[in-house]
Amino acid sequence: MSQRAGAIQSFQVVEMLARAKALEAQGRDIIHMQAGEPDFTTAPAIIEAGIAALTRGETQYSDANGLWSLRQAIVDYYRSDYGVEIDPKRVMITPGASGALLLISALLVDRDQGVLMTDPGYPCNSNFIRLVEGESQLVPVGPEHGFQLTDDLVNQYWRRSQDGHPPTVAALVASPANPTGAALSREALGALFKAVDQQGGQLVVDEIYHGLDFRSVGTQRAITSILELTDQAFVINSFSKYFGMTGWRLGWLVAPEWALQGLEKLAQNLFISMSTMAQYAALQCFTPATRALLDARRDEFQRRCDVLLPALEAMGFIIPHYPEGGLYIYADISGFNGRFGTDSQAFCHRLLEEHGIALTPGADFGDYRSENMVRFAFTTSLERITFAIEKMQRIFMV
Ligand SMILES: Cc1ncc(COP(=O)(O)O)c(C=O)c1O
Repeated sequence: MSQRAGAIQSFQVVEMLARAKALEAQGRDIIHMQAGEPDFTTAPAIIEAGIAALTRGETQYSDANGLWSLRQAIVDYYRSDYGVEIDPKRVMITPGASGALLLISALLVDRDQGVLMTDPGYPCNSNFIRLVEGESQLVPVGPEHGFQLTDDLVNQYWRRSQDGHPPTVAALVASPANPTGAALSREALGALFKAVDQQGGQLVVDEIYHGLDFRSVGTQRAITSILELTDQAFVINSFSKYFGMTGWRLGWLVAPEWALQGLEKLAQNLFISMSTMAQYAALQCFTPATRALLDARRDEFQRRCDVLLPALEAMGFIIPHYPEGGLYIYADISGFNGRFGTDSQAFCHRLLEEHGIALTPGADFGDYRSENMVRFAFTTSLERITFAIEKMQRIFMV
C-alpha cells in the first residue's frame, strides 16, 4: 500500500454506524443520532423520474461536465433563490460534493502546498488534500471565531513562498459547517474572500448545507452564497442533503471561468461521467411541488433542532454555537466533568453500548478541544429524538 493511502485516516462516523448496526443485528434498539444524512427517502417524483430514465434506456455515459439540462436547472435555481445570474458553462455536475472536493483539490494543490481549513471541520477535507500530497493547515476555531475562518485568521496562518516553504494556495470553508452548523454572514464571507484574494489564493466554499437553513422565509435565503459576492470563488454543492439524494451520488461545483478547462480534463479522466439516470432524476428536484416537499422536510429538521437543543442545555450540555443550518448540534460535555467517561470518545462509546444512543465523538472532526465535544445529528424522527432525550435525562439529570 502506498504511503499516501497509509496516511489517510478512516472516517469514524462510518465506523460508529458499523458498530451501531452490529448491535442492532444482536437485537438491540439503537437511536441513530450519528448519521450525516436525511432520514427521509428521496422525494417520490425524483424516484419516479429515475425509474422513467432507466425505462427509456438512459443507461449510457453522459457528458463529463454533466447533463446540460441539469446544469441549466441549477442556473435557474441560483437565479430564483439567490438572485444571481451565472453562465451554465461554470456549473459542473460531480459525483457528490465529494467528487467536487476531489476535482478542486487536484486542480489547485501541488505537493506540500497548503490549504487552510477549520478544526473542527468535515473530516474528509484533510484527506482529499493529503491524497494530492498537499498539506491541510488546520486552523483551530472556537466560539470566539463563530467556528469559522475569518479574514484575520487567513492573514495569520497564510504561508508565503518567500518565507522558504511551499505556499498556502487556498482556503476551504463550509457554510453552514459540519459539525457546528455555523454559517458565515454576508460580511464575513466578503471579508474572507478579500483576504484570500489579497494573498493570491483561491477561496472554496462548501455550500452543501444550503437549503437546510433555519431562518429562511419561503424562498428568501437567510444564508449567503459566495456566488452573490463574486464570480472568482469555487462553490461546492450537492444533491445529498437538502435535496435528499445521498445514495444517488450527485453534486455540483461552480468555478471561475479560468478553471473550467482544467476541471473538465480532470473530470474526464477521473469520472468519465456521472450516473446518467441519477441526473435525469435530479431534474425533478427543482419543480415547485418537489421544492415544497423539501422545504417541509427542512422545517421538520428545524422542529427537531428546536426540541433537542434546549433539552440538551437543560441536561448540562453546553452548546457553544446555535446552528444556523445543517443537520447537527455540536455539544460540549465538559459540564459532566468526566462523570460519564473521561473524554468524548469514551462518552459516545458508553452511550451507545449501555444506552443504545449513537452519537459522533468530536475527535472525528479534529483535535481542537475535541475531547470535550460530541455531535448530535437530528436525522431521526422527533419521536425517536424525544425517546433519546428521555433516556439521557434519566442518565444525566440524577
Ligand atoms: C461539509 C460536507 N461536505 C461534503 C460532504 C460530502 O457529501 P456528498 O459527497 O454526499 O455530496 C459532506 C457529507 O457529509 C459534508 O458534511
